[in-house]
Amino acid sequence: MALVEQLYEHPDLAFALSEAKEVVTNFVSLMDEDPDSLAHLIGLSTHDFYTYNHSLDVCIYSLGLGQAVGYSGEELKELGEGSLFHDVGKRKVDVDIICKAGPLNEQEWAEMQKHPQYGLQLLSEFDVSQAIMACCFEHHESFTGNGYPQNLVGEEIHPMARIVALTDTYDALTTQRSYNIPMTPKDALMFVKNKLSSRYDPELVKAMFSVLFKMEQTFEKQAQ
Ligand SMILES: [Fe+2]
Repeated sequence: MALVEQLYEHPDLAFALSEAKEVVTNFVSLMDEDPDSLAHLIGLSTHDFYTYNHSLDVCIYSLGLGQAVGYSGEELKELGEGSLFHDVGKRKVDVDIICKAGPLNEQEWAEMQKHPQYGLQLLSEFDVSQAIMACCFEHHESFTGNGYPQNLVGEEIHPMARIVALTDTYDALTTQRSYNIPMTPKDALMFVKNKLSSRYDPELVKAMFSVLFKMEQTFEKQAQ
């Protein structure tokens, strides 16, 4: 949603159109590679519209961050696909739990935490790569441990899943939901750096600042 708002609200329509072109190109590649991908995504949108929009945002941010740390070509497409489907397991979680306004009780939280496992089950029925599976199954692991479902640590977590873990949180912090006030991009990154740094790969947090700086510079240049 944040991305779509940017596209519609950016003062320079030419810039917005070129951004949109890149996004659409990525989606066409994804559809070519996996003809079932759109059906999955539409399935998610009818189940839970927030997760659908969130998945699109996380995909775009992951592509930006991935590019900043040196991914290109096929690897970048793989990251795009993995990030787009990172939460696909939420299709199997009751929508009343996903959309509950307020804190989840213990039982609901336990069910919610099963979504990486559910996602892995869904994706394993299709011909998708280990990296894409890892984005789905490992995006709630924490860099210094205590994540779920496997309690992996540091480089045990797939590099692409480490990217999705960070962009997932960044999008949640900067997006309006019924129970939170969205942070500005800079505030969200400072919050991650100061309060949540143990959860994420420090090299990626650094790179995310450079992505944000580049975005700001581009916006400023286009607005002049
Ligand atoms: Fe998730």
